[in-house]
Amino acid sequence: MQIFIDSADAKQIEIWLAQGVVDGATTNPSIMFKDGVTNMEEGARELATLLGDRPLSVEVTSNDHLTMLEQARTFATWARNIVIKIPIVNEFGDSCLGVIHKLNHEGIGVNATAILSFNQAILAAKAGATYVSIFAGRVADEGNDPAIVIRNVRNWLDQWESPARIIVGSIRTVMDIQSAALAGAHIITIPPQFLPKMVDHRYSRETVRQFVRDAEKTLKEMSKAKVQVAAPGAG
Ligand code: E4P
Repeated sequence: MQIFIDSADAKQIEIWLAQGVVDGATTNPSIMFKDGVTNMEEGARELATLLGDRPLSVEVTSNDHLTMLEQARTFATWARNIVIKIPIVNEFGDSCLGVIHKLNHEGIGVNATAILSFNQAILAAKAGATYVSIFAGRVADEGNDPAIVIRNVRNWLDQWESPARIIVGSIRTVMDIQSAALAGAHIITIPPQFLPKMVDHRYSRETVRQFVRDAEKTLKEMSKAKVQVAAPGAG
C-alpha cells in the first residue's frame, strides 16, 4: 500500500519525504488555498520538483468540460509527475467521464476525484482513470460506511483486472487510516497533521524511557567495574 500526503505545504512534504513514507501527494483548490499557494503554477512546479518522480495530483478549477481539458493539458506540461484531478461530475451533476476518457487517450494521467459511491468508482475506472479517489470522510458524512465502499470497489477492480488504483482521501481521524488500509485501499492520502499521531504512542515513549534509564544504570555499573578491574593492576 502506498501513502500520499494530502497537502500543498512544501515544508511538510519535505519532512515526511525524509522519513521515507511518502509515495506521492494530492492537492485540491481548497488545500492550495489553506496552504497559502497563491500561484498555482509556481506552487505545483515546486511540489512536483520536491516529489521527484512521485505523482502529484493537481485539480482543475472549472465546471466546463472544455476548460477542464485545456487546464489539464496545461498543468500536465508543468512537470512529468503531475496527474490531473477531474471530478466525477461537475457541480451541476454533468458527467465528467468523457473528459477522463479523452485525457487518458492523450496519455495524461487522471485522478478521478470526489467519488462517494461504488458506481461512480467503477465508471471512472472504465473511463480510464489511473486513480479513483474515494472520499471516506464525506461518505461517512452521508451516513454510509466508507470501508464497505472501499472493499467493494477493490474487489471489483481485482475481479476485472482493472489497472485503476484506489486512493482514499477525506481522512478525518487516525482511525480512518486503519479502516481504509484494512478495507483494501491501494493508496491513502493523509493530511500531514495525522502523521505524527500515527507514529507516536504514549506507551512507546514510556518503554523507551525505561530502556534509556536502565542503560544509564548499566553504563554506570560498567564504568564502576572497570575502575575496580583497573585498580589492582595499576598498583
Ligand atoms: C484528496 O484527494 C481530497 O481532495 C481530500 O482528501 C478531500 O478532503 P476533504 O473531504 O476533507 O475536503
